[in-house]
Amino acid sequence: MKKGISILLAAAMLAMTACGGSSATATTAAPAATTAAAAETKAAEAAPAAVKTVQEGKLVMCTNAEFPPYEYHDNNTIVGIDADICAAIAEKMGLELEIEDIAFDSIIPEISSGKADIGAAGMTVTEDRKQNVDFSETYAKASQVIIVTENSEVKGFDDLKGKKVGVQTGTTGDIYVTGDLGDECVERYAKGMEAVQALSQTKIDAVVIDGEPAKKYISEVPGLKILDESYTDEEYAIAIRKGNTELLDAVNKAIGELKADGTLDAIVAKYINAD
Ligand code: ARG
Repeated sequence: MKKGISILLAAAMLAMTACGGSSATATTAAPAATTAAAAETKAAEAAPAAVKTVQEGKLVMCTNAEFPPYEYHDNNTIVGIDADICAAIAEKMGLELEIEDIAFDSIIPEISSGKADIGAAGMTVTEDRKQNVDFSETYAKASQVIIVTENSEVKGFDDLKGKKVGVQTGTTGDIYVTGDLGDECVERYAKGMEAVQALSQTKIDAVVIDGEPAKKYISEVPGLKILDESYTDEEYAIAIRKGNTELLDAVNKAIGELKADGTLDAIVAKYINAD
């Protein structure tokens, strides 16, 4: 019975619309339409149109978790500044973060071949890397520093000529030291900590590596120091497959919000004690 009435009503309204409608129909129809539109806008704000990712519902980050305080293993989980930042980005995008731990020099190939969505590894923006990936807004400043033994005669970069310098394979430390001193001076290690251990065993004369990891490494290996003079100034950003502007825009939007609301600073403060 009720159904019959509403069908009738609908038919009547349709008929009115068909003949141009009356002012009465227009006013009753309008609020309903406005509410629907408002609901739609609200939904769009809460959950932005899902960005397509490698695995549905996930944001796959690849990293090399040998780089405290940016990424390292804490028991069975990967933690650190990059892990926290990317978890916050994923949350904003309504996705679940998944972290893949691979060799540092495999990260860019992993991104450009579309196996992972983002590379976050304390990765320095360089012109060469920009040929293969796009970079997000930068989120940290960094520099390459020189680690030597406490009684070393090496006082600055110029003293490294003809010496053996340890680096992590494929990093800016590797690239710049190779360029400045020549391949014969460079000893490459899969992990930064392995280079630091080789230095403490005096197998090499120095290690060139990013400043914050350098501080963490030497706090665990006695007899080493970081020279005051740093070697380069760099900035970290997140690597994304070239041309994936949809993901790049979403990541940049999230980074902008995390910077603006203080989350980024809070994450950094959690891992780096300002001293
Ligand atoms: N900032 C340096 C670079 O981009 C070193 C990064 C190493 N990161 C890592 N997670 N092991 O080359």
